[in-house]
Amino acid sequence: MTATAKPKLMQPKNCRFYTTDKEQIRNKAMVGPFTLKAAAVFLTVGAGLLYYFQTEKEKVEQLRIQKEAEKSKTQSFGKPKLGGDYSLINVETKKQFGSEDLKGKFTLIYFGFTHCPDICPEELDKMAEVVDQTKKDVGENVLVPVFITCDPRRDTVEIVKEYVKDFHKDLIGLTGSQDEVKKVAKLFRVYVSSPPDISEGDDYLVDHSIFFYLMDPEGKFLDCYSQNSTADEVTASFKKYYYEYLDNGGKVNKTPLLNAAAAAAAAAAVNDEPSSSS
Ligand code: NI
Repeated sequence: MTATAKPKLMQPKNCRFYTTDKEQIRNKAMVGPFTLKAAAVFLTVGAGLLYYFQTEKEKVEQLRIQKEAEKSKTQSFGKPKLGGDYSLINVETKKQFGSEDLKGKFTLIYFGFTHCPDICPEELDKMAEVVDQTKKDVGENVLVPVFITCDPRRDTVEIVKEYVKDFHKDLIGLTGSQDEVKKVAKLFRVYVSSPPDISEGDDYLVDHSIFFYLMDPEGKFLDCYSQNSTADEVTASFKKYYYEYLDNGGKVNKTPLLNAAAAAAAAAAVNDEPSSSS
């Protein structure tokens, strides 16, 4: 949805709560699934509560727990269980495509809708910037950008296919039935809300969470980035995870995805001279 003047909220660099196209604050209280969000609230609110309710000794104990929480954060324990197995329609190949196809690569996933007037395009431009930057820094076919529509009612294969082209040639567009998309959104705990009574041809906006989800080559959730994260910040964070993954013996499959191959073939077919058949 469109929000003309969004309040800049105080936020940690990596998002730990939801913001939506509509009003960022309204839904924050409703959706707080991240355990790390809980940890952040715990750390800040907890510190205040301690002052009132706990003895000096307990304070020391609390500090120790806080330190451990910080430590586990950097060791990537206690990650929220986001994502999982899913399969939708790849708009480029018109075939089923999902978590299994993305194994071996880092993926950056964004949920949005093609009718979104401003926020989704801005976010996808940012995503493209991140992908280009990471290509320069760590090479091709490491980080795959994925756009999943949260408005499958209008976002058909053809519409999404045209849409993703505007942002990046690597951007994979996924759509599906309303039920299928709903399931995937749920896996990522994406908040989506369409107006309840929509007739054919109605123009409407979809209120949805605005996040990039970074998944590792095994399909595990690594981090998410809010609207307030810059492309540079997302890139830097990705690289941190990337090198950490390699350091721990992780392998990245750098062969191009079928999607890219299909797109290249399609482009080559267009460029082919009809006479060059021999
Ligand atoms: Ni949007």
